[in-house]
Amino acid sequence: MVKGKSYLVTGGAGFIGSNFVRYLYGTHENIQVRVLDKLTYSGNPANLKDFEKRVGFEFIQGDICDPKIVAQAMQGVEVVVNFAAESAVDRSIDDPQAVIKTDIFGVYTLLEEARRHKQLQRFVQISTDEVYGQILEGSFTEESQTYPRNPYSASKLGGERLAYSFFATYGLPVVISRASNNYGPRCYPEKVIPLFITNLIDGLKVPVYGKGKQVRDWLYVEDHCSAIGLLIEKGVNGEVYNIGGGQELTNIDLAHKLLKAFDKKKSSIKFVQDRPGHDFRYSLDCFKIRKLGWRPRYDLEKGLQETVRWYKDNESWWRPIKRKMDRRYKDGFWGQKR
Ligand SMILES: NC(=O)c1ccc[n+]([C@@H]2O[C@H](COP(=O)([O-])OP(=O)(O)OC[C@H]3O[C@@H](n4cnc5c(N)ncnc54)[C@H](O)[C@@H]3O)[C@@H](O)[C@H]2O)c1
Repeated sequence: MVKGKSYLVTGGAGFIGSNFVRYLYGTHENIQVRVLDKLTYSGNPANLKDFEKRVGFEFIQGDICDPKIVAQAMQGVEVVVNFAAESAVDRSIDDPQAVIKTDIFGVYTLLEEARRHKQLQRFVQISTDEVYGQILEGSFTEESQTYPRNPYSASKLGGERLAYSFFATYGLPVVISRASNNYGPRCYPEKVIPLFITNLIDGLKVPVYGKGKQVRDWLYVEDHCSAIGLLIEKGVNGEVYNIGGGQELTNIDLAHKLLKAFDKKKSSIKFVQDRPGHDFRYSLDCFKIRKLGWRPRYDLEKGLQETVRWYKDNESWWRPIKRKMDRRYKDGFWGQKR
């Protein structure tokens, strides 16, 4: 059982990372939390402002690809959780280089430093269900073959397999999580759920890719964080764990749910050109992490209610971001002239 007191959360200014810092402070006492984040387009210091004055909290702005910064950030740390990533599929298709650099070379840089730190008890590499590719029927187990189909998922697989290799070769205490699509507060508003919610708040249409028949399994971010907390304590080194919300639905059904929440008609949907190589369906078998005792607390109804409420209450968080956001994201990425 790992009971770390000193955490390095890379990518902690982003969506899931900042929710994880919140989770750590909500569930632990007398801890030290250091965040290392480059503050790319999706990293937002506002996500961490509640912790700035906490004793033991420290923020370092820097790149996980930079060995010097990484060495500084890892000093005295017992648990590393690596969320830092270029995390957007559309961006990775548009510009694969950035994702390959951070999601592969950045992970390598962290691992290389980690193996010098004998006090390190756990290195959690946050991966994704997208490494499996798509599945038309049934669900992926951790034993399923991996067939990533876009530069983002291929790079994530590269990063997590490197992490595994550092376990197998050097005995680094690595655990790997593969989570399904997350949603909840502080998600950058080019991702589908916050994009739809903020468009609907502004009376704009919501862009649905293709016919909207793709299926995603939605995981409320707090449930993802509690699963990672459990993996830090009870995960087995070298193992992969699926984390899914068990809430599958098509993108068009998701759009309809959100239209209903805002009392809008179907005419608020705009069908736009589909993403190239768009994975049709993801689905996870989560028996392994459930056996450790994890259960998601949120179903989609409750999670969406919370999320809609958060975006309604926090316009000062997303309006400045949306003002700067490229029109392509608001209108449908692949249908616009570039
Ligand atoms: N969002 C999802 O649905 C989802 C699902 C499964 C797995 N994941 C994984 O979870 C992690 C977090 O995703 P997210 O949705 O919070 O993404 P995000 O884009 O909101 O956050 C990523 C953070 O990483 C930082 N970052 C990027 N490159 C960096 C670098 N080179 N050095 C240091 N910091 C850097 C960014 O500034 C940002 O704060 C990622 O590894 C992603 O692959 C996400």
